[in-house]
Amino acid sequence: MCGIVGYVGAEQAAPILLDGLSRLEYRGYDSAGVAIYSQGKVRVAKAKGRLQVLSDMIQGGRAIQGTIGIGHTRWATHGAPSDVNSHPHVSHSGNIAVVHNGIIENYAELKSFLQSKGVPFVSETDSEVVAQLVEYFYQGDLLEAVGRVLHRIQGAYALGILCCDQPDQLIAVRKDSPLILGLAEGANFLASDVTAILRHTRDVIYMEDGEVAVLTSQGVQCYNSLLQPITKEVSQVDWEVDAAEKGGYEHFMFKEIMEQPQALRRAVFPRIQDGEVYLEDFALTDEDIRGLSKVYVVACGSSYHVGMVGKYHLERLLRKPVEVALASEFRYMEPIVDEHTLVIVISQSGETLDTMAALREAKRLGAKVLAIVNVVGSSIAREADEVLYTWAGPEIAVATTKAYTTQLAVLNLLGLYMARRLGTVADEEYTQVLEQMLLLPAQMEEVLEKQSQIQYLASQYFNHESIFFMGRNVDYTLGLEGSLKLKEISYIHSEAYAAGELKHGTISLIEDGTLVVAVGTYGPLFDKALSNVVEVKSRGASVLALTTQSQGERMAEVANDLVTIPDTHPLLLPSLGVVPLQLFAYYVALHRGCDIDKPRNLAKSVTVE
Ligand code: G6P
Repeated sequence: MCGIVGYVGAEQAAPILLDGLSRLEYRGYDSAGVAIYSQGKVRVAKAKGRLQVLSDMIQGGRAIQGTIGIGHTRWATHGAPSDVNSHPHVSHSGNIAVVHNGIIENYAELKSFLQSKGVPFVSETDSEVVAQLVEYFYQGDLLEAVGRVLHRIQGAYALGILCCDQPDQLIAVRKDSPLILGLAEGANFLASDVTAILRHTRDVIYMEDGEVAVLTSQGVQCYNSLLQPITKEVSQVDWEVDAAEKGGYEHFMFKEIMEQPQALRRAVFPRIQDGEVYLEDFALTDEDIRGLSKVYVVACGSSYHVGMVGKYHLERLLRKPVEVALASEFRYMEPIVDEHTLVIVISQSGETLDTMAALREAKRLGAKVLAIVNVVGSSIAREADEVLYTWAGPEIAVATTKAYTTQLAVLNLLGLYMARRLGTVADEEYTQVLEQMLLLPAQMEEVLEKQSQIQYLASQYFNHESIFFMGRNVDYTLGLEGSLKLKEISYIHSEAYAAGELKHGTISLIEDGTLVVAVGTYGPLFDKALSNVVEVKSRGASVLALTTQSQGERMAEVANDLVTIPDTHPLLLPSLGVVPLQLFAYYVALHRGCDIDKPRNLAKSVTVE
């Protein structure tokens, strides 16, 4: 969840590292630091707080001269956010500096061992042990010392290592935590994500677990876990440089909300050809699909909410049982999964540790694993049997928006593709959904035009301390996503309920003035949605309702406020319905003065358990 960047080249390293870190701050932002080889020493500057604190401290990098260095932005796991717990960590002699992403599980044991040898520790982190251990083993050959450390440490790690005695090289190590290498003319980089180095190069090497790399300004040499030299493929990243910039918007979240129609076009249009769903490089045969006894969808956070929509949609389309599980539960629940199960894992980052662990568990049980992923070359994309990319472009705001809508679109396409092979979808409906899907981006633009109305509604409701969402069927899953968005960025307590469950407890919480967001887009259950609105209103609730244009008039009769979305095929309603909920959360957070792109305690990509 932390961000790592490293540079070796001919230019001043500190400003390059600070710039890289500014693009990684969304991964963690409770402290930041850099270590640079400067005039015979490794000089470290680090500080608790946002990157700006560090940047001010070293005058935007001008205060530390040197052309090789490593940097880090932290999301605390072991040890509270503080100057001393910030990375880089240095060995007691000051010779070795290390940045680390992940968790060293056996650090306590290693720390005791080193302390028994007289090594003093200064921080509470698990990461410091790596710097101390490299120094302990170092006898003039940094790579060899790192190799010995790798035999001793357990857990997940991406490491960037700098040594005073070998000031022309950086060492990069990866296990269960993302790390890539960037190659440029006379300069090379390491980074936890590509956005950190996109300004400098698009040529990258994706490191695999257990691999080590030595970077100098002149080149990169990779090694396997036995430290034997290996040759790696260089890939080209096709993301635009400005895709990871705010481009005039106040917040990444708002920019990404507005980018959704375009992201949908990228995810959907190439996959509908001559009236049929076309999935590139899709290796699941018709026979494989017919042989499936069930489907499992596994994910975390908003990706899990996409999975919940998927349960309704896939069951309807495939007429096969579909289970949906949180990845953090799936891995420990002894799931009933075998070679006749298709496990679909969904992840924007492709690095979420629980989702990765679930993927491995599913494979171990014999299932075929298909991943729906945004980040190309990410760990989940590489380990799954099949990958469908969402092509949403870089998503920077912690609260996901365009990843959600593109994941949903891809899942729908997959459902239609499989249903076509199973013969469980009528030709007419199949054609109708595909036609409507092509209209979806333009309809989403219409929804986005309602931003001023939603901003006004947010101004009316932003000071509520507790907000409820309710809905049935897919509207319930939309409520869950709307509620998550709201609490993530505005810190308002919020819960979502399946509307039919209200009477079984939650309705006791409704009192005069309680805000209930009633999601009622799904036609077949619209009358029931209306009754639920009446029920909560008669207990004093204020109701902000979301429904389709054709149902708007009837909803307006009972709700206090109403937002409508265009009518479309039921399978596509959640794709439009989520947009007003994203905008509502955004504007509420804006009115409350919250740090929208970097909400407290959260990180974009959760690479620890
Ligand atoms: C974090 C993010 C969420 C995201 C979840 C799963 O909690 O803040 O927005 O939905 O991780 O991430 P993934 O990258 O696997 O989709």
